[in-house]
Amino acid sequence: MAAACGNNERMDSHPRPTRWRQAMVARLEAAQDVAAPVAAAMLAVPRHLFVPGVEPEAAYRDEPIVTKRDAEGRPISSSSQPAIMATMLGQLGVRPGHRVLEIGAGTGYNAALLARLAGPGGRVVSLDLDADIVQRAREHLSAAGAGEVEVRCLDGAGGCPELAPYDRLIATVGVWDLAPAWPAQLAPGGRLVVPLDLRGVQVSVAMERDGGRWVSRSVRPCGFMRMRGPFAGPETVTVLRRDPEALLMLPEPRELGELHDAAALDAAPTEITVRREEPAPPFAAVTGLALWLALHEPRWCGVSGDFGRGPVYTAGLAEPGGVAVLQADGSLTVRGHGAAGARLAAELAAHVRAWDEAGRPEASTLRIEAHPNTPNAPDLPDDPAAGGRVVIRKRHTTLVVGFG
Ligand SMILES: C[S@@+](CC[C@H](N)C(=O)[O-])C[C@H]1O[C@@H](n2cnc3c(N)ncnc32)[C@H](O)[C@@H]1O
Repeated sequence: MAAACGNNERMDSHPRPTRWRQAMVARLEAAQDVAAPVAAAMLAVPRHLFVPGVEPEAAYRDEPIVTKRDAEGRPISSSSQPAIMATMLGQLGVRPGHRVLEIGAGTGYNAALLARLAGPGGRVVSLDLDADIVQRAREHLSAAGAGEVEVRCLDGAGGCPELAPYDRLIATVGVWDLAPAWPAQLAPGGRLVVPLDLRGVQVSVAMERDGGRWVSRSVRPCGFMRMRGPFAGPETVTVLRRDPEALLMLPEPRELGELHDAAALDAAPTEITVRREEPAPPFAAVTGLALWLALHEPRWCGVSGDFGRGPVYTAGLAEPGGVAVLQADGSLTVRGHGAAGARLAAELAAHVRAWDEAGRPEASTLRIEAHPNTPNAPDLPDDPAAGGRVVIRKRHTTLVVGFG
């Protein structure tokens, strides 16, 4: 089964999409490292053919495009943001001839990029949970000239043993734990790249085997919708408001009373400016702060949405009766809402200062080890003295995490 999409240009003879693709890749290259083969794949694969309901030009903005929601309005399928796709494909390092497994076919666009990278001698297998998504992904891939990609309707937690082994495995959906099937289906020397949950914060981590454990080779900030099905984690996403969208993310369910209402976040806040700065810290820094909170503070929460000053992803503290969130747009300010808001704002400001004094560690400085939970697994205690090492116990693995 060859994985190629060689006749894109025939299917996509219109010159404007070619220019839009060139502009998209140029913008990405100006903003971040994009590996040369990844840039070439993005130049070749027509993203607009994977999101047929969307204006073709809009398909080349650096934005995720939601393609399916559940009954509560939570996004459950999308074409991910091109910037994070480029980052993760760089981490994955697919070479011609590689056999690649993708968890989360979605629109099929990333699978088409993988097929370009693996070349005619490679193989790409992509899995999704819903039959309608799988059907559409197949249609898009075929329209884009990449019909050789094998798309199967399977729970990604089980991988696809029938076509294993794989040289590379990528999840384009947030995973709470490493499924035992994944390492088992990877060939010796194989690498996996997954958006991994660290107490509610996601990082895209590239891992390789090192004896009996898995060790991170690179870590990058990311934010993906979560895996569904029996392998889903305990994280919760609450829709605070639909239009404009506002979401509250918690690492596990917690009773927060009337905070499950956007009005609580829109109400007049207590503001504490921790530091004035210009320009605003980038997404990577805010994710670094979210990680700092997640590793140090059980009351942490994530918030994304538009609260009157444009879309933001930010982090904060929430407890019944109050929430405090960081605002990072030209200054680092914490805003507390609700009866406990002033106290929570002061506590969040103290965390922000501690993170600032520690040199603002970012996701890219994290080192993560994953140890399978076997009966003879060593006991791994937290060791805050040794670089803030934190141990996170999951169902199948124990993660040891520290800022490097
Ligand atoms: C962000 S989308 C993937 C984007 C996709 N790679 C693309 O290029 O369009 C995440 C996908 O993961 C799928 N998904 C969620 N849970 C899953 C599971 N347990 N097994 C397989 N796929 C799953 C969702 O249905 C959704 O289509």
